[in-house]
Amino acid sequence: MFGKRIEKLASLIKDSKKIADIGTDHGYLVIEALLEGKTLKAQAIDNKKMPLLRAKENIANFGLEEKVSFSLSNGLDDLEKDVDYIIMSGLGGSLIISLLEENLNKINKQTLILQANRNCAELRSFLSENSFKIEYEEVIFDDKYYEIIVTKKIDEKIKLTDKEVLFGPYNLKHPNNVFYNYLEDEYARYEKIKYPSKQVIHKKSLIKEILTKRK
Ligand SMILES: C[S@@+](CC[C@H](N)C(=O)[O-])C[C@H]1O[C@@H](n2cnc3c(N)ncnc32)[C@H](O)[C@@H]1O
Repeated sequence: MFGKRIEKLASLIKDSKKIADIGTDHGYLVIEALLEGKTLKAQAIDNKKMPLLRAKENIANFGLEEKVSFSLSNGLDDLEKDVDYIIMSGLGGSLIISLLEENLNKINKQTLILQANRNCAELRSFLSENSFKIEYEEVIFDDKYYEIIVTKKIDEKIKLTDKEVLFGPYNLKHPNNVFYNYLEDEYARYEKIKYPSKQVIHKKSLIKEILTKRK
């Protein structure tokens, strides 16, 4: 109903009692998740008045307001205790990292669905350094490419290789056509750079290696 990206994010929620949508803006993800029966309740969080008001209006238009609590607050500051899924989508990777860092003690058993608009590698680094296991990943195309990460805190230390940080451990283990297309497009983009940095040269060689091994 609200596009492929929102539909995909909602589809990753399994038998939830309550989701928290951080940076809910228009509230589309909350509406999609409730209408699709992915969750019984939701907490819609935004740190700005207008977006939260917009979410309230949209959610009320679908008659779902009784299932949703609204919080005008920063990140996870007001996270409700019975939330089992935390979703952060359409935010920058650095912001997602700061919001998680600020309230790391509140995250234990919840599943996190993260879709950063940029800095996905930095986000993966942060997750592994803080014992978050990446359980699932998917690259989707919805006018542009989006990387989605599903992760959970575990009691063990996690070590990712440089390649896994850059492209995702799950993506590398279970590559699909969209992932390969994404890498091909990234490679073509890097090819156009007249004076590539060492980092770009390194990424290009890793992409080439992955694409060469493609079955
Ligand atoms: C680009 S929108 C993303 C909307 C939606 N999550 C999506 O995936 O389409 C970003 C939203 O995050 C909110 N936001 C930004 N920083 C925030 C923070 N520190 N805490 C809560 N919400 C925040 C903004 O007000 C805005 O409504």
